[in-house]
Amino acid sequence: MSTEKTLSIIKPDATARNITGKINYMIEKSGLNIIAQKRIKLSKEVASRFYEVHKERPFFEDLVSFMVSGPVVVQVLQGENAVALYRRVMGATNPDDAEKGTIRKECALSIEANSVHGSDSVDNAKKEISFFFSETELYEG
Ligand code: CMP
Repeated sequence: MSTEKTLSIIKPDATARNITGKINYMIEKSGLNIIAQKRIKLSKEVASRFYEVHKERPFFEDLVSFMVSGPVVVQVLQGENAVALYRRVMGATNPDDAEKGTIRKECALSIEANSVHGSDSVDNAKKEISFFFSETELYEG
């Protein structure tokens, strides 16, 4: 077991429906600690850079437009095996495939408006956290 950090984004479909508290409750109930969070508006440039790995995918332009359509809450979650644990808590990318009790099953509207993003590996978590947060924003005490 190892203590890890992972990056979470609560997406515009969730901020629009005022369910960030519900999602945070589900995160905390799983044992993960929210050690940093901020509500921000992404620009097209920032959203495109964040999702650069998907730039050749057919859904890229729609994804970027969706991510800038309203505020997002970017968060750092910490806990034992946080990366894999948060992926279980989120559920499958497509809410139709997500298990009951997961954030995406309970909250998501579609594969695009799927309420949350979570890092997919420990390496990517480090990169994604440093994309949004500086060291001084990550107080673990
Ligand atoms: P996320 O975990 O944020 O990573 C990339 C996002 O692209 C994904 O969640 C979905 O919201 C979005 N997306 C839209 N269409 C698709 C698709 N067909 N396959 C995978 N991801 C998609």
